[in-house]
Amino acid sequence: MAEATSPHELALPLLDERSARPDPLDQLRLWLVDAEAVYGPGSVEATAMALATADAVGRPSVRFVLLKGLDRGLVFYTNYRSRKARDLASNPRASAALWWPALRRQARVEGAVERLAAEESDAYFRTRPRLHQLSAWASPQSEVVPERAFLERRLQELDAEFPCEVPRPPFWGGYRLVPDRLEFWQGREGRLHDRLQYTRRHDGWVLARLAP
Ligand SMILES: Cc1cc2nc3c(=O)[nH]c(=O)nc-3n(C[C@H](O)[C@H](O)[C@H](O)COP(=O)(O)O)c2cc1C
Repeated sequence: MAEATSPHELALPLLDERSARPDPLDQLRLWLVDAEAVYGPGSVEATAMALATADAVGRPSVRFVLLKGLDRGLVFYTNYRSRKARDLASNPRASAALWWPALRRQARVEGAVERLAAEESDAYFRTRPRLHQLSAWASPQSEVVPERAFLERRLQELDAEFPCEVPRPPFWGGYRLVPDRLEFWQGREGRLHDRLQYTRRHDGWVLARLAP
């Protein structure tokens, strides 16, 4: 499977039509497993993805979020009043990219974005450390705040307000990006990289090789 590379690089894995999974979400799952083997399970390095949204007039914006689940789509959590959430309310499509430098791999996805069911967000919120839960309440994400001390005071107030369990804020929860196009990019020696693209059709996925 591995290919010889320069002594400064890891042996780069191959990506070809014969070994690629028929379902691109399975392929992404495989690549995530490989990334977690390199960077650690659930590590920021393995799960950080650049998420691009666009507003009602098509102005794009991009930021990193953490990939927290992979089922029929890519699940991430955020504030439902944030800039990205406002973008998604008016234009519920997004694109995301993951980059794993040690493996010379990029994965790109694009598709429709839906909110998770409240119970799904509740279940995930309960697994978060208390400080993370309180920070979700304390932060009016994407709003201008007067100073850092404002957020720290909010955190202390909320700590007193919720002495036991912290409920999920109604303005915080998950989204699922359900892809209709995915691309797997494997860096190769000499810049002749591999790119496999999956496009969703009514009867399944169509696989194509793209020029690097
Ligand atoms: C590596 C990394 C991971 C991040 N993960 C998340 C995340 O999972 N959810 C989130 O809301 N913000 C996350 N952030 C912060 C976002 O990049 C961004 O600052 C925030 O969501 C506000 O974005 P917006 O104003 O475009 O909505 C992360 C930042 C970095 C650098």
